[in-house]
Amino acid sequence: MKKLIDMIAEDVKDAFLACGYEEKFGMVSLSNRPDLCQYQCNGAMAAAKQYKVAPIEIAKAVAEQLAESETIAEVNAVMPGFINIKVDEEFLAAYLQEMTEEENFGFEKTKNPLTIVVDYGGPNVAKPLHIGHLRSAVIGESIKRICRFAGHNVIGDVHLGDLGLQMGLVMEGLRERAPELPYFDKSFTGEYPKEPPFTLAELEEIYPAASALSKQNEAFKERAQRTTLEFQLGEPGYVALWHHIMNVSVPDLKRNYDNLNVSFDVWKGESDVQPYIPAMVQDLIDKGLAYESQGAMVVDVQEEGDSKEIPPCIVRKSDGAALYATSDLATIVEREKLYEPDRYIYLADKRQEMHFTQVFRTARKAGIVEPEKELMFLGFGTMNGKDGKPFKTRDGGVMRLEQLIADTNEEVLKKVTENREMDEAEAKEIAKTIGLAAIKYGDLSNQATKDYIFDLDRFTSFEGNTGPYILYTMVRIKSILAKYQAECSEKKPVAINASVREYGADELALMLLTARFNDMAEHAYEEVAPHKICQYIYELADAFNSFYHNNKIIAETDEIKQGEWIALITLVLHLLEVCIDLLGFSAPDRM
Ligand code: ARG
Repeated sequence: MKKLIDMIAEDVKDAFLACGYEEKFGMVSLSNRPDLCQYQCNGAMAAAKQYKVAPIEIAKAVAEQLAESETIAEVNAVMPGFINIKVDEEFLAAYLQEMTEEENFGFEKTKNPLTIVVDYGGPNVAKPLHIGHLRSAVIGESIKRICRFAGHNVIGDVHLGDLGLQMGLVMEGLRERAPELPYFDKSFTGEYPKEPPFTLAELEEIYPAASALSKQNEAFKERAQRTTLEFQLGEPGYVALWHHIMNVSVPDLKRNYDNLNVSFDVWKGESDVQPYIPAMVQDLIDKGLAYESQGAMVVDVQEEGDSKEIPPCIVRKSDGAALYATSDLATIVEREKLYEPDRYIYLADKRQEMHFTQVFRTARKAGIVEPEKELMFLGFGTMNGKDGKPFKTRDGGVMRLEQLIADTNEEVLKKVTENREMDEAEAKEIAKTIGLAAIKYGDLSNQATKDYIFDLDRFTSFEGNTGPYILYTMVRIKSILAKYQAECSEKKPVAINASVREYGADELALMLLTARFNDMAEHAYEEVAPHKICQYIYELADAFNSFYHNNKIIAETDEIKQGEWIALITLVLHLLEVCIDLLGFSAPDRM
């Protein structure tokens, strides 16, 4: 289904042509003066320069030409040469009705599906998930869904950090506690135990303790580094221990992501791509790209026109260890081999920008990816506390993700059960659904690159630009529909455009917004911007609520009009449902 704005623009372009001007001047945009008109065309100003005619003359001629248009009801030429447009309401209502009948509400999926890898989540195994990993998971999940909705083949990969220093730290931390374990005995030749030498709870203690110790105790830190390297080089005891760590930690990560309604198609990690590294580094050397610098192997990536220094990409450390960049490069090698993606989207803290610049440039120089492929780094800002500093627990520690979710749900539960009796289990379930919306919407409604303040009170409020407000609106629509069903079940369904009548201002505003859905969805994909969806549903929810307050839907005696309203708000509800699904949360039936 064509976008409404494009249908209007087609008519305007035809009018420009008919008046003897190039059609390219007939571009149409949403009006920035909604009090005056709904759409506008500013092309007469540009055409005036080319044709040496006064802009207002062009605008007037085009406006006159448009009098016959079926999409446009009213068109005015105003000084110095704006063309103000009001859409034809009959046409608008028919358009909405068609949306209800079309698949995906008339949104057209791409005709050229790409294979897109979305690399997000990026947790580090053996460390509990903390709020630093929240944004990557929340934004990445939404982007994955948006790309899929647009019709692309999307592979969401969690890209576990399962190789780094944290592994050596955990192993050395464990050695402190239980040095007698066979994993630490290099002469051990028997079979290692099948049972892990720690529980999840113990593992969660070991890492922070070891990490703290490494900061005070240089010798411990060096041991952890050496152990990390020996593990990477295949020391059997450490490899066996690593499997235990993975087996205990990964299911817990999965559980945490499940709670966030985040799911990955692929659970690969840095460790999976280590086999590619030797050949890859050799190839970089053979191509004359990698050279030795202070014992390490590096690739120059500075380019002409760079405004700042881009240091060389280190692909191998002097001790032979692989680095973060090496793993990311090898991951591209593997992804090319397995999926041949057309496009890559990486989610990570924006402070990692330099890393990704180095990796992408090296990958291109080495021909690991072809030049036409897009390697996109979407660096997100920091989630801050109310003090404007990175979000911390009350005692200044790193907040665990589970804690953040629990605190949010508790706050919501208070609101849900305030002045009301409700079954406890149901209330908790509802609070969980709303809590997730509060967290995700609070994050996604900001442009990803910006920092934002996690404000529990604001995020959980049922009013204002919040997730709960969106859900509240949806629940309200659901309850109107249920009431209508109960009271008016004998009435036949009515089309949105069943009658020709004058619409109230609130109704018209709601209709116009509803019709913008497919345009919005396209932009959300093109700009890789979940916040566009948030903006849209906030406006849509507001428009619905104004309409609702000014019209008595259930008490309406004109049955046709009432049926049209029911059809319209059903469409609004369905659009809100699709949108929140793209954002990665859902709505309860009551709240
Ligand atoms: N594990 C990394 C971290 O915690 C994030 C991984 C981001 N993705 C990537 N392909 N490098 O910082």
